[in-house]
Amino acid sequence: MSVIDALNWRYAVKKFSQSTLTQMQINDLVESVRLAPSAYGIQPYQLIVVTDPKVKKACLPHSYGQDKVANCSHLLVLAHKKHITHHDISLFIESVSIDQNKPLNALNDYQNQIESDLLVRTTEQQNNWAQQQCYIALGTLLTHAAVSKIDTCPMTGFDVNGINQALGLNDKGLSAAILCPVGIRDQDDHAASRAKTRLSYNDLVVSL
Ligand SMILES: Cc1cc2nc3c(=O)[nH]c(=O)nc-3n(C[C@H](O)[C@H](O)[C@H](O)COP(=O)(O)O)c2cc1C
Repeated sequence: MSVIDALNWRYAVKKFSQSTLTQMQINDLVESVRLAPSAYGIQPYQLIVVTDPKVKKACLPHSYGQDKVANCSHLLVLAHKKHITHHDISLFIESVSIDQNKPLNALNDYQNQIESDLLVRTTEQQNNWAQQQCYIALGTLLTHAAVSKIDTCPMTGFDVNGINQALGLNDKGLSAAILCPVGIRDQDDHAASRAKTRLSYNDLVVSL
């Protein structure tokens, strides 16, 4: 299936079947998030993979009645870091140094550039920036899932504080940005046959 065919096949699932995804399917979804690009490459987030039915259920009261958070194969949560620190950036630079086989001091300019951008931001600005990075990971996840015939529903309709508590994210310095139940669509999900509404080519594209 081409990527365009996959994007036509996918839709935001309203009702998942009882089917459970295999561990290999989940691992591949995780890998798509792991490989997603981010600004500077710093990936200021973690991916929470919720398998435990009790934990999924604990998210229900905070999801504005969207029961797919519990009635899905797995609930994935993209959670951004609430603070980006000098330490985070140093750890990242150390990883780059190892992966690219470069001495640390060859990366000084890069580290200074990242620090002078991110460390001067207010907490709110850092959070907005970190959330933007989560959305890139989400796009990569949704596209990979569609190509693999795995169903998804990206969700921002939830109470952030409630989900943070239910998942114990506060203690980890994280905050939920996007929920994404994954699984297999139910045969009775009427949303599957709903026509897509998208901008036309002419409304979308500005040719200069
Ligand atoms: C960031 C984001 C947040 C969304 N939040 C919700 C949500 O809370 N609940 C829901 O049912 N759908 C949610 N959606 C799904 C959109 O409503 C859906 O993608 C859009 O209407 C286009 O339809 P389609 O994806 O089925 O083609 C969200 C989508 C995105 C990308």
